[in-house]
Amino acid sequence: MNFKNIYDSSILHDVGKVGIPDAILLKPASLTPREFDMMKTHTSIGYSALDDASRGLGADSFLDMSKDIALYHHERWDGKGYPSGKTGEDIPLCARIVTIGDIYDALTSKRPYKDEFPHQKAVEIMQQEFYRFDPGIFQIFMENNNEFERIQKQFS
Ligand SMILES: [Fe+2]
Repeated sequence: MNFKNIYDSSILHDVGKVGIPDAILLKPASLTPREFDMMKTHTSIGYSALDDASRGLGADSFLDMSKDIALYHHERWDGKGYPSGKTGEDIPLCARIVTIGDIYDALTSKRPYKDEFPHQKAVEIMQQEFYRFDPGIFQIFMENNNEFERIQKQFS
C-alpha cells in the first residue's frame, strides 16, 4: 500500500455527502430510519462521483483508493456495516484503516446532534465496540492512541 495515497485519498471519504440534503446532514437530533437510509447513500454517491472523475484520467491509484474508501468506509469487520455488509478482509484494507480514524474523529468532534467526547472516553467507546474493527489495525490504534490525541488537538 502506498501511504501517500491513503493520506490523500482519505480526505475524500465523505465527498458523497454533497448529495445529501442539509436537513439531514445538519439535523440536531437522531435520524429517522428513512433519513438514515438516505444518509447511507453518501458512500455510493461518493464512489460514483470519483469513478466518473477517474474515468477521464485513466488508471490512477490515488482515485482508485479514493473510490474504495468512499464506498467502504462504513463497512464493519462483523459485517453489520453498509452499503454492502462486507465482512473481515473482504473490506479493502484502506477502508478498514480509514474506518478507525473516521470513528475516532466522529467521537472526538462536535456534531449537530452531539457534543464531542474527550479522548479517553472516545477510546473507551471504541474498545467496547471493538468488533466493528479489523483487530490488527485496532491494536495498532490502541498502541498509538496518544498520537491520535496529539493530532486531534493540533487540528481542533
Ligand atoms: Fe461517511
